Amino acid sequence: MDILCPVCQNRLKRNEKIWKCVNGHSFDEAKEGYLNLNLHNSQNSGDNPEMIRARQRFLGKGYYDFLREKVNSLLKEEDSLVDLACGEGYYTSYFCCKDKVGIDLSKQGLKIASKRDKGTTYLLNSIFHDPLKDECADKVITIFAPIAREEIVRILKKDGQFLLVRPDRYHLYELKEAIYDEPYLNDTEDIEIEGLKQIGQYHIESEALLPKEDIQDLFLMTPYVNTTSKKDKEKLDQLDRLKIRFCFIIDVFEKAN
Ligand SMILES: C[S@@+](CC[C@H](N)C(=O)[O-])C[C@H]1O[C@@H](n2cnc3c(N)ncnc32)[C@H](O)[C@@H]1O
Ligand SMILES: [Zn+2]
Repeated sequence: MDILCPVCQNRLKRNEKIWKCVNGHSFDEAKEGYLNLNLHNSQNSGDNPEMIRARQRFLGKGYYDFLREKVNSLLKEEDSLVDLACGEGYYTSYFCCKDKVGIDLSKQGLKIASKRDKGTTYLLNSIFHDPLKDECADKVITIFAPIAREEIVRILKKDGQFLLVRPDRYHLYELKEAIYDEPYLNDTEDIEIEGLKQIGQYHIESEALLPKEDIQDLFLMTPYVNTTSKKDKEKLDQLDRLKIRFCFIIDVFEKAN
């Protein structure tokens, strides 16, 4: 896939570790291999290093391998793929497509992603302003991240597909039960995206008995880490092990012609 200059939108040509457009705007790859195209000095700098490290340790244990295998089964080798909010590339690096771009705003995430996976172009950029041409991707994927609706529709080819992974009703319910007095179920209402029509939906789940350190890492990588009181967080320290269900929805959308 062509990567566009964030200043003038012309194609960037790569020469060793320098990417340059016809107008002389030039961008250096970071030493780990990702390319910083983020010109906006936004407040959002993606997930913080602590969350990223916890997620890397947790995912490295293989608890979510069944999810990436299922998503991968929906992809083809010849697809061009854009992973929006790719984090540290745990999913992106595994996918079978030959032409892959991963975009995220977290430097820490992209450092890990680009060190371990040389087969993907990783871009430090907002997913709401992709440096990509209209209709360049066969598949766009978003896993546990904000949905950049307009950009997804813009970069998808006609008949291209958008795969969205989100928590199903009982995802991590046992973790919430352990820390909250009134645990709640996840919202699983259908998601509508103008310009796309839904053509499929999968519900997949698995369960595991987690030891203490994995419970802590799992908690750190969830949004609950920012919304849970100190008192409730302390309940986690009392847990030596916990059986937890991992339940996901994979929505498949197609670009309407
Ligand atoms: C919960 S993580 C999911 C990461 C990855 N998809 C995974 O499942 O391992 C959400 C990711 O969204 C990224 N993110 C949030 N807002 C973003 C934005 N506006 N542009 C790019 N990335 C963003 C964060 O940096 C973080 O890596
Ligand atoms: Zn330029």
